Amino acid sequence: MKVGIDALGVAVPSLCLDLEALAKARGVDPKKYLDGIGTWRMGVAPLDEDTVTLAARAASMAMKSGEASGDDIGLLVVGTETAVDHSKPVSSYVQGLLGIGQRCRVFETKHACYGGTAALMMALDWLRSGSARGRKALVVCSDIARYGLNTPGEPTQGAGAVALLVSEAPRLLELDPALTGQHATDVHDFWRPLYSKDAFVDGPYSVQCYLDAITGAYRHFREQAPWVTADDFAALAYHVPYGKMARKAHRQLRALDGDLNPDASFDAQVAASLALPAQVGNVYTGSLYLALASLLATSSRDLDGQRVGLFSYGSGSCAEFFAGSVVPGAQARVKALELQALLDAREVLTIEAYEALMAAREATDLKPLERARGDAFHFLGVEAHKRTYAGPSA
Ligand code: CAA
Repeated sequence: MKVGIDALGVAVPSLCLDLEALAKARGVDPKKYLDGIGTWRMGVAPLDEDTVTLAARAASMAMKSGEASGDDIGLLVVGTETAVDHSKPVSSYVQGLLGIGQRCRVFETKHACYGGTAALMMALDWLRSGSARGRKALVVCSDIARYGLNTPGEPTQGAGAVALLVSEAPRLLELDPALTGQHATDVHDFWRPLYSKDAFVDGPYSVQCYLDAITGAYRHFREQAPWVTADDFAALAYHVPYGKMARKAHRQLRALDGDLNPDASFDAQVAASLALPAQVGNVYTGSLYLALASLLATSSRDLDGQRVGLFSYGSGSCAEFFAGSVVPGAQARVKALELQALLDAREVLTIEAYEALMAAREATDLKPLERARGDAFHFLGVEAHKRTYAGPSA
């Protein structure tokens, strides 16, 4: 049975920040952020956008692109590490906002940035088990990445969501859930305590944990498929906390195959997957899938029928290396989403406006908002301890 990604949707907040301006404000050489980190813009959520609204918008795009109705969905999972409630899952809000039917499994998954991949793997197994009975799964990865002002992590923030419609007739990427490599280990590289909106991270250690994880996961994958080497992939999409991390990952993966010049293959195998993430920043659970969307939307190469390797990393940690084949026509379908136009439509914040927004966000869980925009899917505020949202206006 074929299983895989049938359609995708992407949502970014309406605001962003230029990292060149941030570098100047922090007294840092802009080249450090633009070249050393490898990001030039990061998404910033206004007060009426959150993990729910981003998830709903991405899911709406994926369903429209995949011509799916609410009743087609039998499994709705949101992977997130920046949920809005300790009990009620983001997926229930999304179900309500999108009108997804009641005969559906609806829940949220968490394992740092791996939460979306955990949901995707579960969705593939659900389809192959026969439980789906012709229905589709909607997997949504949605997050707002915050480390706080003046921290080393500040230039690696971001916000956004990627939704994946997963089905037995995939029109984007056919995946093989029986052939994956995992690596899990109990480490304290990145975490967010219950009392904090900002994440804490041991930066250099987190980079090392990521590299250890790709080593373990790729070795595990190769044990099952010893005939496959990195050269067999037309492209490789990595979890992208920041662009430079993907370059480090690529060097590590190619070195495991004995490649003494791993940078030589970077432009051909990786660069296209970083075009969109470099303008959005870290979107945690969605980062790998934004990289995949970027590959399909921006690669100038014909990827029809070609193999793509994917690496997902969630701090804490759990990681997975898996592979898929690009379904003919997939690039045209993703290009039609006009994702670059979505990014170009954002308003660029001043540093003052960005800092004011970061401070104001602290209070949005506690009180109703004074005013809200009129367009689709926005957060209205909290009343009687309940978060309320506006659905699509049309
Ligand atoms: N011109 C060009 N490059 C420059 C430069 C300049 N003027 N100045 C510095 N650089 C380069 C450095 O050489 C370095 O490159 P290399 O890594 O190739 O050596 C790069 O810029 C970053 O410099 P530093 O390491 O000195 O930067 P830093 O101390 O400020 O920390 C960071 C960088 C650790 C990534 C930090 O931003 C951070 O903690 N980020 C959050 C954690 C994170 O993203 N970890 C990734 C792995 S964990 C994960 O993937 C899960 C997740 O999503 C969080």
